[in-house]
Amino acid sequence: MPDPASVRAMFGRIAPHYDLLNRALSLGIDQRWRRRAVQSVAQALAGSAELRADALLGRTIVDVCCGTGDLALLFRQAGARVLGLDFTPAMVARAADKASGRALFGQGDALHLPLRDASVDATSIAFGLRNVGDRLQGLRELARVTRPGGIVLVLEFSMPRGALLGRAYRTYFTRLLPGIGRVVSRDADAYSYLPRTVLAWPQPAELEQELRSVGLVDCEHVLLSRGIACLHLGRVRSAGLPG
Ligand SMILES: C[S@@+](CC[C@H](N)C(=O)[O-])C[C@H]1O[C@@H](n2cnc3c(N)ncnc32)[C@H](O)[C@@H]1O
Repeated sequence: MPDPASVRAMFGRIAPHYDLLNRALSLGIDQRWRRRAVQSVAQALAGSAELRADALLGRTIVDVCCGTGDLALLFRQAGARVLGLDFTPAMVARAADKASGRALFGQGDALHLPLRDASVDATSIAFGLRNVGDRLQGLRELARVTRPGGIVLVLEFSMPRGALLGRAYRTYFTRLLPGIGRVVSRDADAYSYLPRTVLAWPQPAELEQELRSVGLVDCEHVLLSRGIACLHLGRVRSAGLPG
């Protein structure tokens, strides 16, 4: 289980290079995944596969483990009212700089969200849950602050199946990526931590089960980029409906 103090210190060290490395190491695909996440939340809240431009207009969304704010800002662009929370001050500062007042960012721990029960339309966590000390408690908190009928979204790395792609990706992820990350960020640990935690991450079906175990319903997941990432959605049960 990751130790929160060292996780916070590590993200504090890599905050200045975080966006650049994200784009370079994923060849820009990471933003495509985040856009897909925004689209999925919009469709799920609207209860329709049709994508309406105003689906998120005025909705309140909390992006937990927001880092430098990329996902939160995409929600904002789509018209939502957004709060981004992260427990690393340097990440929050960069997010606030990028937002220039368009979205609110603050410090907050995913394990004890500073929000009332059922207070927002949706919660999201992108590439964050893997770093949270107690995964189930993190999910419980997301579900707790989301209103009945609202949506919880988890976007995370995954390991592609298939002999050829799986092997090629594993080589890139465990050998090449830590080397590039080390040179650019000058941090020996951070980019070996990434493959280590992704390799230890549960399979999508297992994580989906964990979403159910905290009381979420209508849970589903979608593999992105042939399983390099995975998007999970769950809905907070509406009052009066049996589980
Ligand atoms: C890999 S970054 C992801 C950032 C962002 N969501 C994105 O899409 O790029 C993980 C973030 O989770 C934050 N984090 C880890 N554990 C946390 C916790 N318990 N509470 C709040 N933030 C946490 C770190 O500070 C870091 O900014």
